Parts: sequence; structure tokens; C-alpha cells
Amino acid sequence: MSEPNSDNPFSLSRRSFLKKFGASAAAAATTQVESVAAELEKINSEKVYGPDKVPITLQVNGKPLKLELEPRVTLLDALRNYSNLTGSKEVCDRATCGACTVLVDDVPIYSCSKLAIEAQGAKITTIEGLAQNGKLSPVQQAFIDQDALMCGYCTPGFVMSVTSLLKKNPHPTADQVRHACAGNLCRCGTYPRVLQAAMKASGVAVNSPTEMISYAKLA
Ligand code: FES
Ligand code: FES
Repeated sequence: MSEPNSDNPFSLSRRSFLKKFGASAAAAATTQVESVAAELEKINSEKVYGPDKVPITLQVNGKPLKLELEPRVTLLDALRNYSNLTGSKEVCDRATCGACTVLVDDVPIYSCSKLAIEAQGAKITTIEGLAQNGKLSPVQQAFIDQDALMCGYCTPGFVMSVTSLLKKNPHPTADQVRHACAGNLCRCGTYPRVLQAAMKASGVAVNSPTEMISYAKLA
């Protein structure tokens, strides 16, 4: 085998290459082992809750809601079955219909797919928290004025999605409304009127669902 050229800094013998490669591989492996060990230590130091009931405090509609729940209880279940907040509806119970939509820190989420224990510390708003001093919110009123419901089971979820949108974007386009409500299903098919109500709540004058459909196509 030819000897390495000592004048060339990139020249290596097979032996010195293997030695250097082995040293860096060992250093990388040590770093990996250390980070896995740190991760395991973190996991082991985290407190395990349950399976028995534990005290939970949720901030719902500006008030603390103190409950004793098993950690497996969802936020929707906590609201509907462990307190009297039955406005959020349970339909699919698997994150597909949006009937259970509530706002967590102003972001719409499916409450059937979040554990109540995980929602502690966040600002939760349900449909019951929208009316102020006995007066419906503009979105709620618009849904009534535009007759944007049939059976009404999906309506709280749509109202929460539209409310969240208008907080971020007070004057959305029809397409933006449709996008915001993409996670909400209405089996009665009141979509044009939902759109109409959302546009009305945002200050756009619309007279009929038919006009709304054409508006949506143009937007
Ligand atoms: S009940 Fe939560 S998404 Fe359907
Ligand atoms: S109004 Fe009946 S499911 Fe929407």
C-alpha cells in the first residue's frame, strides 16, 4: 500500500482513516445515547395522572369550572355531561362533523377530540359564552335572521367557526367563510344560508340564499 503524502492535508492512510472515522462515529453515538437518556429522564419525571378521577379546572366562558374527571374524559364530555354546557353537540365523536366546535384561545377545535385535562390553562369559549347581557352575538343573530338552520344540530359548531373567523378577519370573502367552515358538516344542507348569515354578520348585504350562491361563485 502506498504511504500517505505528508504534504497533502487530504491524504490519509487506510488505518488513519478508520481511526478517525471510528472516533467521530463513537462521538456521534455517544451524543445520541445522551439525548435519548435525557428524553427518557424527562418522560419518567412527568407526573402520570389517572386512571382515577383527578381535579381539573377549566376556564370556560370567563369563569373557572372545577371538575373531578378521569383523565380520559374529553373536553366535549366534560362540558356536556359533567357540567350544564350542552350547547356544543356530540354527533360523530370522532373529529369529522364539527358539531362539537368550541374555541380554545380563540381557535376553533373539535372538543370531542381533546382531553379536558389538556385544555386546562386555555381560554375556552362555548356557544353559551357568546351572548352578552342577554343579547345574542352578531353571528348568532345573523343565523336567526337568515334562517340559517333546519334541525339546528350543527348550528352551534358553525356559529363558533364563523365567530372565530370574524375575530381574525371581520370582512371575509365568501370563499374565506367557506374555508373557515370546511370542518363543519350540515346534514340538512343549509350551507347557502350559513354563508348568507356569515356574510351578513360581517356587514355584507345579501338578500337571498340564491344570491349568496352566485356571490360565492363570483368570490
Ligand atoms: S362530534 Fe366532534 S367532530 Fe363530530
Ligand atoms: S341544520 Fe340540521 S344538520 Fe345542519
